[in-house]
Amino acid sequence: MNQENTSSEWTLIGKTEDLIRELETRGLKELEFDKKKVVLTYHDGAFGALNNKCNHMGGPLSRGRLKKGCIECPWHYWEFNHKTGESISGSAEPLSSNPGAVPTFPLKIENGQLYISIPGETKRVQAVYNSGIMNLSREPKREAGKIRVLGISTTAMDKNHPRFSTSEELLNSALKTAAENLDVETKLIKLSDLNFRHCEGFYSKSEKACTWPCSITKMDPTDEMSQIYEGMVHWADVVIVSSPIRWGNASSLYYKMAERLNSVQNQITLKDRVLIQNKVVGMIITGGQDNVQSVAGQMLNFFGELGFMAPPFPYVGHSLGWSSEAMEYNMDYVRDSEYLHTQSYELIERTVELSKKLIQAQD
Ligand code: FES
Repeated sequence: MNQENTSSEWTLIGKTEDLIRELETRGLKELEFDKKKVVLTYHDGAFGALNNKCNHMGGPLSRGRLKKGCIECPWHYWEFNHKTGESISGSAEPLSSNPGAVPTFPLKIENGQLYISIPGETKRVQAVYNSGIMNLSREPKREAGKIRVLGISTTAMDKNHPRFSTSEELLNSALKTAAENLDVETKLIKLSDLNFRHCEGFYSKSEKACTWPCSITKMDPTDEMSQIYEGMVHWADVVIVSSPIRWGNASSLYYKMAERLNSVQNQITLKDRVLIQNKVVGMIITGGQDNVQSVAGQMLNFFGELGFMAPPFPYVGHSLGWSSEAMEYNMDYVRDSEYLHTQSYELIERTVELSKKLIQAQD
């Protein structure tokens, strides 16, 4: 193999047969020349050398994998031809209309040795992004108008066979009463209606791989967690979360949502950027047995870390207790309990009162 190069500065990499043996086992090899990182590959009888930085957000290509002659970045799976550095259309997130190309380095083989020309590096062709597709990334700014209350029911159920949920009943009824009696707009999102993926641990690969908007939201337009992001970060002044108690904890869907909210919290950790400001949270927690206070404590901690504030008496709880577990009776009890319905409405009243004060303080 001999690639054209105007520079005479060739650097020896190593014996080709050793490199081929190594690359056939490992796929990718990271090399460093004067702080310049290069990813070396061998596929289908040809070596390739690319700049190690991904075109997207600088992910380390050498930690990715070689797939049919392309390097797949480990962070968000953009793919680049291992010899030409050109991106593979369709591998990039929909936000990018043209993912560009990663710089390549000329290589030559002489007397069974592989050489690289670092000065011969080609220019990076930057990715071009479509504007307007990802409206979520706009700077959060409260739109004028009534206080907006978002209810999020985290109860898991089959949407084709809905069942009575005590926490969802109290949330739904409190939102309706609030819409009738307070000067507010309300909206209810049921997590069980949304198709959304689990957090896939981008932060665990690298703190920089966890992005806002969420990496999954950017690469998967069918993922409906965007409704929660839009509601929580942009639309709502008040968020009321309802959850059943499952084995002493909040629902599995609550945790699925909470993990996807890493992308909101990590903006604080990584960029000192607080996406949730002057917003208020309240909770409705019900269980056949108990552990209301523990679930509430966990939720208060989590939402506080996102930037939410809580009013005095920030949650409504209900459980019949360990010795009184009787689920049919529990449903009837909650359905008929004027006390619990009033308490849930009054929780919204308190959150709205606090929200008004926060909004006035900004004016
Ligand atoms: S940094 Fe490589 S795909 Fe995002």
